[in-house]
Amino acid sequence: MVDLSTHIGSLVLQNPVMPASGTFGFGWEASKLYDINRLGAVVTKGTTRRARAGNQLPRVTDCPAGMLNAVGLENPGAEHVLSTELPFLGTLYGGPIIANVCGFSVDEYAYVAERLSQSPHVAALEINISCPNVEGGGMSFGTDAHIAAEITRAVRKATQKPIFLKLSPNVTDITEIARACEAEGADALTLINTLLGMRFDLQKRRPILANTTGGLSGPAIFPIALRMVYQVYQAVKIPIVGVGGISSARDVIEMMIAGASAVQIGSAALVNPAAVTDILDALPAELEAIRAGSLWELIGASQPPGNRFINHPAKTAVLAGTPVISRFVVRKEI
Ligand SMILES: Cc1cc2nc3c(=O)[nH]c(=O)nc-3n(C[C@H](O)[C@H](O)[C@H](O)COP(=O)(O)O)c2cc1C
Repeated sequence: MVDLSTHIGSLVLQNPVMPASGTFGFGWEASKLYDINRLGAVVTKGTTRRARAGNQLPRVTDCPAGMLNAVGLENPGAEHVLSTELPFLGTLYGGPIIANVCGFSVDEYAYVAERLSQSPHVAALEINISCPNVEGGGMSFGTDAHIAAEITRAVRKATQKPIFLKLSPNVTDITEIARACEAEGADALTLINTLLGMRFDLQKRRPILANTTGGLSGPAIFPIALRMVYQVYQAVKIPIVGVGGISSARDVIEMMIAGASAVQIGSAALVNPAAVTDILDALPAELEAIRAGSLWELIGASQPPGNRFINHPAKTAVLAGTPVISRFVVRKEI
C-alpha cells in the first residue's frame, strides 16, 4: 500500500487532497455527490463578518483551459457559519476542517478569525488576502507586503489555531509577501488564488462579467501555481498548500514535487464533481508508476540540494533517527 498521508505543520492529513475554498460551499452539496470523508481536509467558503449577496450576474464565464469568476464572496456571515454551517459540516465530515476567512479591514479579518476559532469543528483558519473580486478588500491586502504582515499579526493575536495565509498571484514578487506573513506568525501558506482577467461580449462590446474583471482559475494557471510554490518553498520554512489548476493525480504529484505539502482542487471539481475522488483513486497507481513509496517523500523533491525539507514529523523522526516534533515544520536537509 502506498502511503498517502501528509502533514501541514501540526495538522495530520490522511491524504493531501482537499477542495479549494469557494468551490465546495460548506460541504453539504458535495456530500450528496461523493463520500467527502475520503478528503484529506475540507476548506469552507470565504466568510466575512456580515452576510454578503456577492456581485451582480453574470459572475462566471469560461475560457480555454479555465474559467473566470467574480462571485464576490457571497456568504451567510460569520455568526451563521459558526452557529449552523460548521456544526452541520461537523456531522458530515470527521477530518480537519479549515475555515476560510475574508475581510474588508484588518479588524474584520481579526474579528472573523476570532469568531470562527470558537468552533470546536475548526482545525485551522485559511486567511484569504487574495480575492480579486471585491472592492477595497481581499486582493488589495495581499498585494502589499506591509498590509499582509499587518493582517497576519492581527489574526495571529486573535486565534490560537493554525493560520494559513492565502496569497495572491497578482504580484511581482510573491516571495516578499510570503516572507512577510511567515515573519508575523503564519503557520502555512496557501497559494495561489485566481489571476485577474477579463472577457468581452462581441455583440455588446462590453465585458461579459458584471464586475468587469474576474479571477482566472483552472488548468491554464497550473504552471504559474507550480512556479510560485517552487519559489516560495525556497523563501520560507513554513509548509505550503498548493492550489491552482490541479486536475489529475499527476498534477497533485507535480505540485508536491514543486514543494507543496498538500493540495487543493477547485475548478476541476466544478467541471466534474467526481474529480477529487477520481484523483484519489488514481494516486496510488501514479505513485507506483514513478516508483515512489509515499507522497511525503516527494515534497520539494525538485528543490536544489540543501534546500529540501520533509514536513512530516513522524517520518522525519524515522529518517533522522531521533524523535523530532515541531509545532509547525521539521526541516531536514537531505
Ligand atoms: C467560483 C469560485 C469561488 C471562489 N471563492 C473563493 C473564496 O471564497 N475564498 C478563497 O480563498 N478562494 C476562493 N476561490 C479561489 C479558489 O479557492 C482557488 O484558489 C482558485 O480557484 C485556483 O484553484 P483552481 O484552479 O483549482 O480552481 C474561488 C474560486 C472559484 C472558481
